[in-house]
Amino acid sequence: MRQSQCWLLAICVVFGLASTALNAAPVPAKPDEILIVYFSRSGNTRTIAHFIQKHTGGTLFELEPVDAYPAGYDQTVIRSREEIEEKRMVKLRAMPEMSARYKVVFVGTPSWWRTIAPPVTTYLAQGRLAGKVVIPFITHGGGGHDLVGNAVRTLVPKGKITAPGAFAGRNIEAREPEVIRWLATVIVVDFSHRAAPAKVPVR
Ligand SMILES: Cc1cc2nc3c(=O)[nH]c(=O)nc-3n(C[C@H](O)[C@H](O)[C@H](O)COP(=O)(O)O)c2cc1C
Repeated sequence: MRQSQCWLLAICVVFGLASTALNAAPVPAKPDEILIVYFSRSGNTRTIAHFIQKHTGGTLFELEPVDAYPAGYDQTVIRSREEIEEKRMVKLRAMPEMSARYKVVFVGTPSWWRTIAPPVTTYLAQGRLAGKVVIPFITHGGGGHDLVGNAVRTLVPKGKITAPGAFAGRNIEAREPEVIRWLATVIVVDFSHRAAPAKVPVR
């Protein structure tokens, strides 16, 4: 094979793999193979996580920083900016135990400074997600969330990452139909094996 052909093959492999990761067909999974991990400061991402739970039967886990964010928006903006700029790993009260039974992990975050919130950074970095299908979801205030996909891929280089689902935070309770439509593009749940949602152990 000539050198030019080798390069062409390498480029096809690289771009082929990348697009498989981003545009893959909906993943088949049973409810007990699905974990839904999220952080939410003011409730929007929690609402979407609960819709996902309702329509997949997966197991929910809420991430909580040891040092809770202030109730005040402005103070949270200031603190989170420092944490993101300094790439700080904020401490979490608990992490969900990663089990071999989980095949798909939904990871939810508010858009903060157009990227993931620091508690979610800690989870992605330490959550043992290599080899898992990771499906990010975002809630946002309309100011942008374009850095989320890259942040997830960088923190979980060995995960199979889908394009993030994004939901506007305004009128969040009305977004269940949007969530159902999006879920159909990323997952096919086999409910014939439905078990009661487990309480996820922590480590
Ligand atoms: C510190 C901070 C930074 C934010 N940055 C953005 C942003 O860059 N883009 C955006 O669309 N919304 C931004 N928002 C709005 C939130 O993403 C939005 O309200 C989200 O739905 C909140 O989710 P939660 O209720 O689960 O915490 C920011 C909010 C906070 C508190």
